[in-house]
Amino acid sequence: MAGFAGLFSSDMAIDLGTANTLVYVKGKGGVILNEPSVVAYHVKDGQKKVLAVGEDAKLMLGRTPGSIEAIRPMREGVIADFDSAEEMIKHFIRKVHKRTTFSKPKIIVCVPPHGATPPVEKRAIRTSVMSAGARRAGLIAEPIAAAIGAGMPITDPTGSMVVDIGGGTTEVAVLSLGDIVYARSVRVGGDRMDEAIISYLRRQQNILVGESTAERIKTSIGTARMPDDGRGGASMQIRGGRDLLNGVPKETDITQAQVAEALAEPVQQICEAVMTALETTPPDLAADIVDRGVMLTGGGALLGELDLALREQTGLSISVADESLNCVALGTGKALEYEKQLRHVIDYDS
Ligand SMILES: Nc1ncnc2c1ncn2[C@@H]1O[C@H](COP(=O)(O)OP(=O)(O)OP(=O)(O)O)[C@@H](O)[C@H]1O
Ligand SMILES: [Mg+2]
Repeated sequence: MAGFAGLFSSDMAIDLGTANTLVYVKGKGGVILNEPSVVAYHVKDGQKKVLAVGEDAKLMLGRTPGSIEAIRPMREGVIADFDSAEEMIKHFIRKVHKRTTFSKPKIIVCVPPHGATPPVEKRAIRTSVMSAGARRAGLIAEPIAAAIGAGMPITDPTGSMVVDIGGGTTEVAVLSLGDIVYARSVRVGGDRMDEAIISYLRRQQNILVGESTAERIKTSIGTARMPDDGRGGASMQIRGGRDLLNGVPKETDITQAQVAEALAEPVQQICEAVMTALETTPPDLAADIVDRGVMLTGGGALLGELDLALREQTGLSISVADESLNCVALGTGKALEYEKQLRHVIDYDS
């Protein structure tokens, strides 16, 4: 019967991220859904009704009138609002799961490693996934998924360091023989970088910008290192800001040097997290990491010159994974595709 079900089901892997949720469908060759982790509700007489999920809901963030509420169910890498997380999972599963299939899919979701996800939270995630229509729910630790997705040799008897820089957190992990030797998560990621840009502009230019403007500045001209052209690097016009002194809309420019200054602290914190991991790793594995370097995954890894800044500050060789934004989802998907070989990394029943 299992074989029969397997023939028709479209088993899935889900990366439930703070910023983006990605869905990988087995046999379809990759990530087929990638949308912001946002749910918008219509609120009337204390009753909430889902209005939009994903891309459509993100457009509403920061722009909602009183009767609409846009929520990000994930904060700092963990589920902050279970009801809206469940709504979101259901919505995305419905979107990718073709009605023509008879059976319910098996679904694997990635979660922060071990200690960071207490058993009650694991159970709650499983319950959400099952009530969203799964036949079986498995969990995989995010750093393992990130490393598999980045093509690292995680089952070898050698130390591999993967640093996943997401929206909410940066997770630094050392893996060997298919398991986690060291993992720590720091609350620094893309969101913190956006906040740093907002507060820099408030302090230095008396201008108030929203999260989406800050994110646009970061992804367009953001850099982790001072430009060395002597002129502050490229610059960008900021629109949609408001003058803090008189409240009227204000346009201004920001240079790469200014963005680098704004981002210095979060970048420093990521460097420190890498150094702490290296210092805490057993010496033989640490030596492997010095030899083989460090792999960066996640959207934050795309910050301009972050790899160079990390190399300068840690002395380690640093690579950015191909498709860094998709690594966790791809790795989870690979665990699903090669379940026989990678069975031990998926947890079906804790
Ligand atoms: N080119 C870029 N430069 C800098 N940051 C970027 C770039 N592209 C995307 N990002 C940032 O990457 C973050 C999203 O990354 P990712 O999708 O890996 O996070 P997530 O998995 O949703 O979060 P988490 O893993 O913390 O739960 C966002 O903060 C986004 O602004
Ligand atoms: Mg992530």
